[in-house]
Amino acid sequence: MRARLIGLCLVLLALPAAADPEALAAAHWSGCASCHGEAGEGLRPKEAPGIAAQDAAYIERQMRAFRAGLRGRHPDDGPGSRMTLMAAAISDDAVLAALARRIAAMPAAVAPATLPVEDMARARELYTSCAACHGVAGQGSAAAPRIAGIGDWYLLAQLRKYRDGVRGYLPQDQEGRSMAALVAGMSDADLRAIAAYANAPTPP
Ligand code: HEC
Ligand code: HEC
Repeated sequence: MRARLIGLCLVLLALPAAADPEALAAAHWSGCASCHGEAGEGLRPKEAPGIAAQDAAYIERQMRAFRAGLRGRHPDDGPGSRMTLMAAAISDDAVLAALARRIAAMPAAVAPATLPVEDMARARELYTSCAACHGVAGQGSAAAPRIAGIGDWYLLAQLRKYRDGVRGYLPQDQEGRSMAALVAGMSDADLRAIAAYANAPTPP
């Protein structure tokens, strides 16, 4: 009985701390990790990309996009629709910011290659135009997210979504639309080559 009372007191003492955005973000992370992996390395069976070391501002913007239906609402976007449910659960801006900082601070992981680079010279040439925003090593910049290491299968899926009007097609989604315009009309072979290369760029 006494031990139980002490236990209850400890739980009550812990409550104010749990209202702290950092603590709430830490609690949310265990849910995220069930799909994105404990280290944010991505889990292909869940179709969830690597998010560790991703830019915090990009993470926040994507979470808001999922929440607002700018991403993940297209009928052909099954993986995106699962993420919209997760994003809807985090409505507090301070908690979202703390969670994004936490993920951004995780060391970058490199998802193993699942697509072959058949023609390295062609892939490298195609990637030149991407490097202006995503960086020669795919590390990202103020203008574009990190794409290196987050999973070639995920990169290919996103490139197809942009090309096919499943992501980045709404008027309010300016960043998505600009990315979609860049891959409009590209062949599937070229998208495969770029996705394979961009997961692990090897600048000459
Ligand atoms: C049920 C599995 C699941 C859970 C739980 C989950 N995610 Fe996701 N997440 C996904 C999938 C699948 C995608 C890929 C969506 C797509 O293909 O567009 C994704 C995409 C994302 C993206 C976009 C990545 C990018 O590079 O654009 C972010 C950011 C993200 N998730 C953050 C989170 C956070 C933060 C949490 C916890 C609050 C979380 N996810 C929980 C499955 C999940
Ligand atoms: C003008 C700058 C710019 C250029 C050039 C560019 N991108 Fe992007 N890219 C972006 C922005 C901004 C986003 C985020 C779009 C959004 O919010 O949907 C993005 C998103 C992406 C994503 C989704 C990332 C994720 O985590 O979900 C992929 C994949 C991608 N770009 C690949 C490419 C490839 C491949 C090329 C070259 C053919 C390229 N990009 C050229 C700016 C650029």
